[in-house]
Amino acid sequence: MTINQQDLATLQPTANTIDNDSVEKKSIEENISQTVNNSAEADLIEKELPEEDSIDIMHLRTPIKVDLSPVYNFLGARTTQAWVDAAIENLPMIIQDHANCEKKAAGTAMNLIFRYEFSYDLQRKLAQLIREEMLHYEQVLGIMNERGQEWKYLSAGRYAKGMLKHKRTYEPAAMVDVLIIGAFIEARSCERFAALAEVINDERLAKYYRYLLKSESRHFEDYLALAQSLSDENIDERVAFFKEVEAELISSPDAELRFHSGTPA
Ligand SMILES: [Fe+2]
Ligand SMILES: [Fe+2]
Repeated sequence: MTINQQDLATLQPTANTIDNDSVEKKSIEENISQTVNNSAEADLIEKELPEEDSIDIMHLRTPIKVDLSPVYNFLGARTTQAWVDAAIENLPMIIQDHANCEKKAAGTAMNLIFRYEFSYDLQRKLAQLIREEMLHYEQVLGIMNERGQEWKYLSAGRYAKGMLKHKRTYEPAAMVDVLIIGAFIEARSCERFAALAEVINDERLAKYYRYLLKSESRHFEDYLALAQSLSDENIDERVAFFKEVEAELISSPDAELRFHSGTPA
């Protein structure tokens, strides 16, 4: 007998309630082993276990716990309760803007990959980042489709522009600044996904936001490490400068609600 994806999907709900990745996998394997006696068939099924990078969020592994303290220490301010409340009230808009963010994250990384071709580390990290951001984009599109939510045009908020206007105009300083700004955008995304996952009244979406924490916190660290490795000087002062700019954009009143907007005006 063979077990296909559909059979696995029926096993998923049991596993979804368990928080630990390895426990979940073990639980699925136990379920499978009850129905399969043949070891060759078991090998085949191993390959069909829920993936970490599936486009269908139903097939994602439950995230292992992610330590967000580096993210919280890096950022100069925490998201206000007022923003969380407004976001929950306007969830479809936040989901739409999230889709935009994923696409923009991939686009920005793609621009960098063409502009700075000299560094192996940069090219490799950016290639991985683009792959992951496009996967997130497909996943969010899937969520929108599932919710019957149509694509809606949303203008860009003030957030990225508010940081990019401070970017130095000469190289390699311009590249270092873009990478530091990238680190802040990723860290903030991570902080907001965690804040939303705590209070959102939609377990499926909350689970998906928790799944994103792992990759987005890594993206923040990758951008920061790249910025330092490609800079001749220590970047701490520049990081401290953008930390203040970013915190101000997040904490000050903002007339437009967006995924990275300030506190609702
Ligand atoms: Fe992403
Ligand atoms: Fe990211």
